[in-house]
Amino acid sequence: MARRPSLISSASVVTLLAVTTTFAQSSGAASTPGQTHGSPSGLGRAPTQAELRAWDLSIGPDGAELPPGKGNALQGALVFTLRGCAACHGPTGVEGPGPLLVGGKATLSTNYFPVRYWPYAPSIWDYIMRAMPYDKPGHLTHDEVYALTAFLLYKNDIIKEDEVMDARTLPKVQMPHRADYKGPSPAQWTPNSPRGFKIVP
Ligand code: HEC
Repeated sequence: MARRPSLISSASVVTLLAVTTTFAQSSGAASTPGQTHGSPSGLGRAPTQAELRAWDLSIGPDGAELPPGKGNALQGALVFTLRGCAACHGPTGVEGPGPLLVGGKATLSTNYFPVRYWPYAPSIWDYIMRAMPYDKPGHLTHDEVYALTAFLLYKNDIIKEDEVMDARTLPKVQMPHRADYKGPSPAQWTPNSPRGFKIVP
């Protein structure tokens, strides 16, 4: 399937780096000579290819952009401990102090949606990849994120423990509460779509 237009343009990343550099300089950090050329303000630097690859990843609900890689729940259980998820979410994902990841109820009053209430499984992969671990996001490998996603789906009774999740199988997972949600449909999704889904009262 064709890749959707990229969410992040090189220009916006240069701007972001420029802002970061300005902040570092105004807070007293020394600037590195030779890193400030190439932008009209003389600040910032071009992102490296590795930085662009890490940030330029936006997975729609249908999982069309999911990258290569794979993992199952057995591997995910190990990653969950090794990568420190258990420290915040508890050894089995329910003890906290972070939000519980297994079971739970969606409530309109708190607008909190436990993982098993999410309408599309690729969104779990996307969220973990970009946002977790909370204190060090962007450091997981694609295989680790597939394994963690499989682990959470298994613990929530949605897939089997040895079922391999990859770019082909993850979009096919039927989330149990999908019918409770209305729009936008996965086909209408673009990287600029709001991520919220309205739950039917
Ligand atoms: C330092 C604490 C911390 C660590 C470590 C951490 N998390 Fe989280 N996690 C949070 C917090 C806090 C939230 C809620 C964030 C929010 O709502 O903005 C969260 C939210 C989540 C959610 C979304 C829950 C929902 O239903 O909205 C998932 C999934 C998740 N974390 C998975 C993981 C995984 C997998 C790891 C390990 C790679 C991990 N977390 C590591 C603190 C942490």
